[in-house]
Amino acid sequence: MLLTIKNLQKQFNQRAILKGIDFHVEKGEVVVVIGPSGSGKTTLLRNLNFLEHADQGTMQFLDQTIDLAKPTKEQQQWVRRHTAMVFQNYNLFKNKTAVQNIAEGLIYGQGIERGEAVKKAQVALTKLGLGERADYYPSQLSGGQQQRIGIARATVLKPKIILFDGPTSALDPELVGAVLNDMRRLADEGQTMVVVTHQMSFARNVASRVVFFADGKILESGTPEQIFDHPQHERTRQFLASLAENY
Ligand SMILES: Nc1ncnc2c1ncn2[C@@H]1O[C@H](COP(=O)(O)OP(=O)(O)OP(=O)(O)O)[C@@H](O)[C@H]1O
Ligand SMILES: [Mg+2]
Repeated sequence: MLLTIKNLQKQFNQRAILKGIDFHVEKGEVVVVIGPSGSGKTTLLRNLNFLEHADQGTMQFLDQTIDLAKPTKEQQQWVRRHTAMVFQNYNLFKNKTAVQNIAEGLIYGQGIERGEAVKKAQVALTKLGLGERADYYPSQLSGGQQQRIGIARATVLKPKIILFDGPTSALDPELVGAVLNDMRRLADEGQTMVVVTHQMSFARNVASRVVFFADGKILESGTPEQIFDHPQHERTRQFLASLAENY
């Protein structure tokens, strides 16, 4: 198992948001997390790389076991070095160009010399068909292009796992396809991914496993067929029906 989380608990202002999550990801899996707004999906991902700090729980990642309530600095840095996150709102540096945004993590995260890092970033952009956009600033790029650069920024770091938090939810519908294509290609290359998304066709076609998250808990998890065609919980059925209406 690449990543195993046990009994992850998190409160905000004395309100329980994550109520004892058990969660695991195998190498090469694409785990799609679905669930209602406010159920704690973002909080879950943020706890996995210490953007947020859990009250309780353990993480087994690669060969290390980490007490999530009191991770050491070294453990946090180590987990961050081997994971990457793609955000709903891209989170690109506004004052850096596309190529600089991608190179940044290589330089500061991995100590690669700047010239070399820029070369790698340029290769990544070219592979995406965004080579001519290398010197554009985020404000000069479409949301879809910004997100694709966000994904390239995560990918060049060669993380063991990439956490995607609603990567297409801020995009105009016609920009969604290109981003999902990048993600699908990554999945085909064997990249391990956890993806919070309501893109059902992506979930159906790419997910190895779908996890339904509601009210701070995992209610059920299974293959796309199990969750979409034979959900076990009424809450899951309700949620899927609301998706069918709204998407
Ligand atoms: N920093 C914070 N301080 C206080 N409450 C927070 C904080 N972050 C999240 N919450 C609360 O935790 C709950 C879960 O939020 P979270 O963002 O994880 O939901 P989500 O499942 O990602 O929702 P969405 O689908 O809308 O993105 C919400 O009630 C939210 O208000
Ligand atoms: Mg969220």
